Amino acid sequence: LIEAPLVVVTNREPYIDERVAGGIRTIQTAGGVVSALDPLLQEIGGNWVAWGSGNADIEMSSGGQRQVPPERPRYTLNRITLSPEEVQGYYAKYSNQGLWPLSHMLIERAQFSRRAWQTYRSVNQKFAKRVSAVSPPGAWVFSHDYQLALFPAFVRKTRPDVTIAHFWHIPWPPLPIFRLCPQHQEILRGLLGADVLGFQSEQDVEYFLNAVERTLKTTVNRETGRIDWQGRSVHVKSFPISVDVNAIEAMVESPRIRRWVRGIRRHVDRRDQILGISVDRADYTKGLLPRLDAMKEFYTLYPQYRERVTYLQIVVPSRTEVAEYRRFYEQVEKKTQEVNQRFATNGWKPIITLPHSLDRPRLMGLFRAADFAVVSSLVDGMNLVAKEFVAAQVDKRGVLLLSETTGAANELEHESFPINPLDPEGFANTLHEALSISADERADRISAMRKHLEEHTIYDWMADIFLTLKMAAQSYV
Ligand code: UDP
Ligand code: G6P
Repeated sequence: LIEAPLVVVTNREPYIDERVAGGIRTIQTAGGVVSALDPLLQEIGGNWVAWGSGNADIEMSSGGQRQVPPERPRYTLNRITLSPEEVQGYYAKYSNQGLWPLSHMLIERAQFSRRAWQTYRSVNQKFAKRVSAVSPPGAWVFSHDYQLALFPAFVRKTRPDVTIAHFWHIPWPPLPIFRLCPQHQEILRGLLGADVLGFQSEQDVEYFLNAVERTLKTTVNRETGRIDWQGRSVHVKSFPISVDVNAIEAMVESPRIRRWVRGIRRHVDRRDQILGISVDRADYTKGLLPRLDAMKEFYTLYPQYRERVTYLQIVVPSRTEVAEYRRFYEQVEKKTQEVNQRFATNGWKPIITLPHSLDRPRLMGLFRAADFAVVSSLVDGMNLVAKEFVAAQVDKRGVLLLSETTGAANELEHESFPINPLDPEGFANTLHEALSISADERADRISAMRKHLEEHTIYDWMADIFLTLKMAAQSYV
């Protein structure tokens, strides 16, 4: 399917070199985009351009390039060095205090400044310059997300020979909200530099088309999702991102992880416990605080679950460059302590927190071992954790509580237990209901969700995007 050299462009790099006591360590970064695209580039080779954020990135690169993965180099990682001021203005401020909360419709958290905008703009230009320099003639450029909204138009200007697909991983807000971004027109013009624009849902596409139509006064064809823009066609479409079900299954079936899962289950079963799990970056969009309220409600309304339901929350520190995120992490810690103080007994604690990231095989192992998982985002473009939990549930014992306001709910709403993250009593009742169904019903629900994921894998996602890109590339010649 991929008929031209591929250049992947993201803000977050797939491998970080970090100085630690005794040397330098290379870490693979967590996140859906990296886990999807790294295997692809390992397979076909190519270039990946990203911000080199590790403190040993420079010394481990040569001319800004590093062959990765380190143990078996397969493709070239091109690292862009950003100054502390650039990181602040482009990443911490404009991207993560401006576009991120606004796109998640949390208006009051959004802050914009013209100074941060200028930096955002110049860093997007910097990305475009680098991509233009490393892209072979006629390359396919696959860029990602809200940090790089201006990038497509910048690349197009210097390299009209490349074909560009840009995927927006987070929600696209309705026009009255999007308009609050002081540079909303420039953001739209930047994105329209792409040939293919992908979103997570039909709803996102609808909001985007509406924004283009209303603010740029352009006609859009809603049937085909095509926009005629500056003498070209831009194809806008929803491509819900997914996971590699087979790879996850292979991970949880490996001897090491099977042993690990068996150990956890033995521990849980011996104590007649029920094990719940959640995995999130420490981000206010994930609904971590309302979820803790709901757990408090659950142990209050259903005291029979005290000393029985143990809930393991993995909360990975995130975007610590932003003060608000650091504060948020502390609030989660504090609220967790409150719940624990209220319900803990001798030898039992309702909530166990793992405050760090786990390697993927063990994370998937925990998903396999759990009796239930909770995803309670206030708003979420997709939420891959929900899909990973289903993929890892090879024993089909678990139930999934899934916020109705995630992209994943569009696909899994019938067999998961839908929750409203802002309704703690409803949430508690739903958890009780979910824990009360028979083993057969649990297995049926997981099987149905697994079937859906097997038919809609991450490879289908990519194939769909590349097919659309190919059509776009052909319409050029
Ligand atoms: N993840 C991980 N290790 C961790 C925590 C998270 O690899 O310790 C991964 C998780 O498995 C998922 C991604 O990070 O693939 C998070 O994606 P999601 O769509 O759920 O939320 P995001 O963090 O992208 O908003
Ligand atoms: C979300 C965004 C990604 C981002 C990831 C982790 O998934 O859509 O673009 O990479 O969060 O956030 P970070 O700021 O650490 O890259």
